[in-house]
Amino acid sequence: MTTKEKVLEILAEKQKKDGNPVSGEVLAEACGVSRAAVWKAVKSLREKGCLIEGTTNGGYVLKSSGDAFSQDLFTSFLAKAYPSLAECHVMCFSEIDSTNTYARRVLAECGGLRDGAGRLTEAGMKYHDSVIVAESQTAGKGRLGRTFVSPAKTGIYLSVIHAPEKGITHPARITVFSAVALCRVLRRLYGVEPAIKWINDIYLNGKKIAGILTEGSANFETGQIESAIIGIGINISDNREAFSPELQQIAGSITGSDGDMSVSRCRLAAETAGEVISILSEPQEAVIQEYKALSFLLGDTVTVHPVIGDDRTSYEALAVDIDGDGGLVVRLADGSLKTLSSGEVSLHSRNY
Ligand code: BTN
Repeated sequence: MTTKEKVLEILAEKQKKDGNPVSGEVLAEACGVSRAAVWKAVKSLREKGCLIEGTTNGGYVLKSSGDAFSQDLFTSFLAKAYPSLAECHVMCFSEIDSTNTYARRVLAECGGLRDGAGRLTEAGMKYHDSVIVAESQTAGKGRLGRTFVSPAKTGIYLSVIHAPEKGITHPARITVFSAVALCRVLRRLYGVEPAIKWINDIYLNGKKIAGILTEGSANFETGQIESAIIGIGINISDNREAFSPELQQIAGSITGSDGDMSVSRCRLAAETAGEVISILSEPQEAVIQEYKALSFLLGDTVTVHPVIGDDRTSYEALAVDIDGDGGLVVRLADGSLKTLSSGEVSLHSRNY
């Protein structure tokens, strides 16, 4: 942890505990640095948007960490909520083409993450469960070749590279688990009740507030999916100008029109990444149950839009269940059951 991260952590803890100032001397001792170094760290935190008040006797009080966004802040939020991820490799950008595309480039540049025997290389260990986060994207990608509109300030965009030792054995589960992870974070941080539209959309009050795009990278010799890039885009506050009239009908945000709700993009991104990484090692059954409880399609008639196969004609079906791999089980008009592992479904009755 850098001095800046440590100073912020101590001040944030004190703010939570009793709101009293922490002296420069105490900070210096806790960080193992000089008081001048503490002062420098405080100055830099202020420049990044943290509101830190100085007291007459040389103490500091954190009034607000504001909506500052930096790699240090991200790391400190991540380490605080998920101590085991304190060493996680994080790549932060104020603007990027796409965090998923960047992740692909990283993987391509290190020539894969495994050696001939399938073990993670040094690069593999560095990038497994690493995070790329950006304040804005110029070429954000959505599912099925769509664009994901990714404006600055009102949203946050991140990708997690996941390359488990045995490869990705159940690809659909990655998206399903990540959707549950994001819902957990939204509930915990903002007390909202999000819902999931199979397979990757997160809704709040009838509007889409986040989407997930999971991309895999396969080894053609072994047939193994070696790694997944889990891309998550979250709309934090309304930004109608950024969206086309068509998207304005569908897109919502966490705060909506509630000007009072304050969201730290850095904390949201850090806790989302942390929860995604953690949930991926949780037992499958419990997470699928959680996904089902959050899913709002079950019991509804949906229109299925197939994306693979020769016959891509849409058809109606009743959504009845989510299976253990995250597939959507639907009942067809002839009464038979079919499990969808890809494709898209829409609910015409509700216009989404
Ligand atoms: C969808 O709703 O269709 C999925 C949207 C996924 C968007 C995220 S933003 C971070 C990551 N980078 C991208 O280019 N896309 C994903």
